[in-house]
Amino acid sequence: MRTQVGIVGAGPAGLLLSHLLALRGIDSLVVEDRSRAYCEARQRAGLLEDGTVKLLREADLAQRLDAEGLEHGGIYLQFAGERHHLDFRDLTGGRTVTIYAQTEIVKDLITRRLADGGALEFEISGTAVAGLDTDRPVLSYTTAGGERREVVCDAIAGCDGFHGICRPSIPPGLLTVRDRDYPYAWLGITADVPPSTDELIYNRHPDGFALHTMRTPQVSRLYLQVPPDDRIEAWPDERIWAALQRRFALPGWELKEGPIFDKAITPMRSFVSSPMRYGRLFLAGDAAHIVPPTGAKGLNLAMADVSVLADALEALLRGDGRPADRYSDTCLRRVWRATHFSWWMTTMLHVTPAADPMTEELQLSQLRYVTSSRAAATSLAENYTGYPPLR
Ligand code: FAD
Ligand code: PHB
Repeated sequence: MRTQVGIVGAGPAGLLLSHLLALRGIDSLVVEDRSRAYCEARQRAGLLEDGTVKLLREADLAQRLDAEGLEHGGIYLQFAGERHHLDFRDLTGGRTVTIYAQTEIVKDLITRRLADGGALEFEISGTAVAGLDTDRPVLSYTTAGGERREVVCDAIAGCDGFHGICRPSIPPGLLTVRDRDYPYAWLGITADVPPSTDELIYNRHPDGFALHTMRTPQVSRLYLQVPPDDRIEAWPDERIWAALQRRFALPGWELKEGPIFDKAITPMRSFVSSPMRYGRLFLAGDAAHIVPPTGAKGLNLAMADVSVLADALEALLRGDGRPADRYSDTCLRRVWRATHFSWWMTTMLHVTPAADPMTEELQLSQLRYVTSSRAAATSLAENYTGYPPLR
């Protein structure tokens, strides 16, 4: 079998790449080891940068996003018993962010690819890539029906997330990895209750970090800092709401509760593997880098990577390899900026177990600074709302 670009993974990166390539007249095959229903239901990111919204609009993928997305002009930072508002529109000359769940982006992309006749294979197994240092790399897998296939490609995109097979297929010794684990995790819940806030609340409390975000005007999403080895069974719904109530408490403000229909614990990690290319294999999104979610950057980085990659592959297939040669460096500049911002937000807002009192004072001083200095607030706002397109 033959396709121009073999894409491993039907997450946001792989699906958007196949659409952007189709717009350029390039055919691709997306293979995914999970079911379509699983990919469409996996609760993850919810916040889109300005540039990501524009990218989706330009790719004619924003009908539902424009109708249902919730545009936010700022965030709240809560600490030391006070809640402060940062006004991004004012600080950045009009930039905003948009709440639109990753689940919805994935649904929109799958619907569109299928409507356009795109090749998507779910529930495959035994994914393997070979011949990466040749002009005809091969993607092989076993279909849901048990048939083994070998697909000859011009290039392969590894969009298979942090635990995928593409990054480990690069010969040992060629990748440089920078890695940091954090001594905490996030317990995330989705609940059937209207949000108690108009914009996101990032909250540093002595018990630990908490975040109030949302999915729709009827559905709230909330996160709690928990120990990294905590188990979800240790958190019955009443304990979760009690912890959220304590951390968000503010006189005159009420956190509304409702039935929880999704809960999970996610570890926090910073990870950057470079270069993002080996021969005709290109890594994009979580396959190449992970950030802790406090900066809301992971999904946005994944989409930015593939917008650069679509152009690079188009040129490569026409015989011009220069943009492909620049792909990794171009993406990594944005990746490292987002990695720094995510680390900075994370360390400012989380409580480090057994930290000395000095650490706490430094965090509080930083929080007072970003909520009182226009220059410091502008820096946060500029990073949070996102970076201009890189080419
Ligand atoms: P993934 O979404 O991981 O997709 C990879 C796909 O590859 C998966 O479908 C997987 O099943 C498939 N796959 C893996 N191995 C194979 C194989 N061997 N063969 C075939 N298929 C395979 N980011 C933000 O920008 N904003 C946020 O607000 C935000 N909040 C987050 C909150 C949480 C709790 C979490 C966990 C993450 C959050 N993120 C956020 C990060 C964001 O969800 C990820 O960065 C994003 O999913 C990356 O997309 P991707 O396509 O690169 O990878
Ligand atoms: C989310 O809506 O899930 C979300 C928003 C902002 C973050 C992390 C997660 O920083």
